[in-house]
Amino acid sequence: MISGRGSNMLTIAGNVKSGNLNGICKIQTIFSNKKDAAGLQIAEELGISTHVIASKGKKRKTYDKMLLDWLKQRNPDYIILAGYMKILSPEIIREFPKKIINIHPADTTQHQGLHGYDWAFENKLETTKVTVHYVDEGLDTGEIIGQKRVDLKGVGSLEEVEKRGLKVEHEFYSECLAKVFFEKE
Ligand code: GAR
Repeated sequence: MISGRGSNMLTIAGNVKSGNLNGICKIQTIFSNKKDAAGLQIAEELGISTHVIASKGKKRKTYDKMLLDWLKQRNPDYIILAGYMKILSPEIIREFPKKIINIHPADTTQHQGLHGYDWAFENKLETTKVTVHYVDEGLDTGEIIGQKRVDLKGVGSLEEVEKRGLKVEHEFYSECLAKVFFEKE
């Protein structure tokens, strides 16, 4: 599930095709709550099916119900959040316990919610962490699957923080997913 750029999704898709996720999982659909998310076009170019339920202009309850109905109908083994920027309803989380996984651009015990890299930059951190975790009903409070350090020594801009962080995210997310999927086999 994405909401924007989709660089994590692209890396995961690449690893499913010919990397460490090859042969252990398949991407069923890329979902977006935004119809103009750049990641959707990338998914389409890769030949992956896409589905959009636009959250904009809908009441929260209406969107949540449409999303829950669609997810139940698709019945995925896992739901992988990759830059999906909406909070999932408790009903969705209860329907898929320990099946929803997220990547967060900070240590979830230190910073929750949006703007993880801004937080690291503003606090002049010399290192930060990215976190892969199960999603529960709290905001970034779910069980941690893994964390990886990002070296921020000498960074001069938020862009540089994000660049270094994303490099770690891209490699680490697929590593964590492989670990989860292997353990389930
Ligand atoms: C990533 O940095 C991801 O960790 C973050 O959004 C970015 C999405 O980039 N997610 C969150 O902040 C979730 N709270 P991408 O669309 O290029 O994968």
